[in-house]
Amino acid sequence: MAVNKLEHIAIIMDGNGRWAQTRSHARVWGHIRGSKIVSNIVEEADDLGVRALTLYAFSTENWSRPVTEVSVLFKLLKKFLIKERKRVLKNNIQFKVMGDTSKLPEKTKEIIADLENDSANNTGLKLTFAFGYGGRDEIVHATNRFIKENPGKEITEELLQSYLLLPELGDVDLLIRTGGDQRISNFLLWQSAYAELYFTETQWPDFKKEEFRKIYEFVSLRERRFGNISSSDLQNSKKKAIENKEIITNF
Ligand code: IPE
Ligand code: IPE
Ligand code: MG
Repeated sequence: MAVNKLEHIAIIMDGNGRWAQTRSHARVWGHIRGSKIVSNIVEEADDLGVRALTLYAFSTENWSRPVTEVSVLFKLLKKFLIKERKRVLKNNIQFKVMGDTSKLPEKTKEIIADLENDSANNTGLKLTFAFGYGGRDEIVHATNRFIKENPGKEITEELLQSYLLLPELGDVDLLIRTGGDQRISNFLLWQSAYAELYFTETQWPDFKKEEFRKIYEFVSLRERRFGNISSSDLQNSKKKAIENKEIITNF
């Protein structure tokens, strides 16, 4: 059986709040625990030889959460960046943040810019944090930028793709969501058109390298048809070309 190469993996890191609440803790405790396991998953993606890993850390809709929760998420992002900087640079990882970061504190923006610049020429894993990110927002911005730069011209799928925030990431091959809910929640809408979806009940703070690898291996064996018929059916249909021709003429 053919094995798919899953080059771009996207993860909706969900279930932090419920993880904490079932342990009678405040929701933010779940975010703190959740932030601690991120580097394990990055490391595993690197070991699996994945080209790009995109992590959903804060959505455009998450702005509606209580300010205290939002501010904890901001602080955790900053802490993560300070802690991970060395590891990112040592492991040849190219780090980027995708989304509207304008409301982040100046210091955090500086830390992001520094790490993006210092890792820009790295040739290993493309690690992207989707922060202040929304799939619809990204598509609207891409379209508006295109119209501004190309007045009167018609947009195509290829052109729209090239106007996305980080076109180099390409299509998502595997989209994982932890936390048990089965929805996309406005993540990478354009890029996930043909993504394989995998939903796990495991809440993000409990997500382990071993489960990640198992999902990767399991999905690698799925047949991806992209609208076509399976490759074995395709072979058979070629063999039966004469029979098929008869069917068509008599139909
Ligand atoms: C995901 O965990 C992290 C963010 C959305 C920032 P949640 O905070 O959504 O956790 P649940 O889904 O409420 O358990
Ligand atoms: C999606 O999770 C966003 C992130 C994980 C950053 P949410 O918890 O915000 O999604 P909904 O509200 O359950 O759809
Ligand atoms: Mg959630």
